[in-house]
Amino acid sequence: MEKIYQIAIDGPAGSGKSTIAKALAKELGIDYIDTGAMYRAFGYKIREKGIDMHDPAQLDALLCSTEIDFDRGKTLLDGSDVSSVIRTPEISMLASDCSAIAEVRKKLVALQQAMGESKSVVMDGRDIGTVVFPKAKYKFFLTASSEERAKRRFAELTAKGEKTTFEQVLEEMNQRDHNDTTRKVTPLRRADDALEVDTTKMSIEEVTEFIISKITEEN
Ligand code: DC
Repeated sequence: MEKIYQIAIDGPAGSGKSTIAKALAKELGIDYIDTGAMYRAFGYKIREKGIDMHDPAQLDALLCSTEIDFDRGKTLLDGSDVSSVIRTPEISMLASDCSAIAEVRKKLVALQQAMGESKSVVMDGRDIGTVVFPKAKYKFFLTASSEERAKRRFAELTAKGEKTTFEQVLEEMNQRDHNDTTRKVTPLRRADDALEVDTTKMSIEEVTEFIISKITEEN
């Protein structure tokens, strides 16, 4: 296998990207970078500072004064651990909204490229195989039915004690899918050379094993 390589995992919310990407990184002994967490952290900061994300001057000032990083699985926003506070439905929507703004994407994509060029990584998101690492050696596009994806997200949220209903999660997920696939700047789409994996009826172990078999098959 090459010394430095990238594995791109893209797909819609709830398709299993982060669970699979984490398992792959562990199995292969390389770093995992959750790019969704970076949009979430920035969305969180927008709310904390009460800025109008559609005002270019306010947005620019915020982008220039924001640092996002990872440390042992934790998401750091300006040095503070925000890993748990960025997982709420409200921040999901703010992340989706701010990710549609070209300036936000420009800054976060540059950061992601810097994080993944000097070491091997598994990176998950919406545009990894198309924009961030179009030359990634391995590209996968995970999908699942919207009901199955909402079921997974609902289980995740209720396990954390969030008060919500399946219908509400499904509606929010459909709204976010619509945002992410119809935005003008790099909407979610499968890279032409990415392998699509429908995870609707597969367990985490099955998807991980399948992807590992594809990676090792190529070496
Ligand atoms: O993967 P996630 O649900 O944590 O992502 C949160 C939002 O961030 C998602 O609705 C779209 C946006 N996003 C993006 O536009 N590009 C990425 N590479 C990752 C996430």
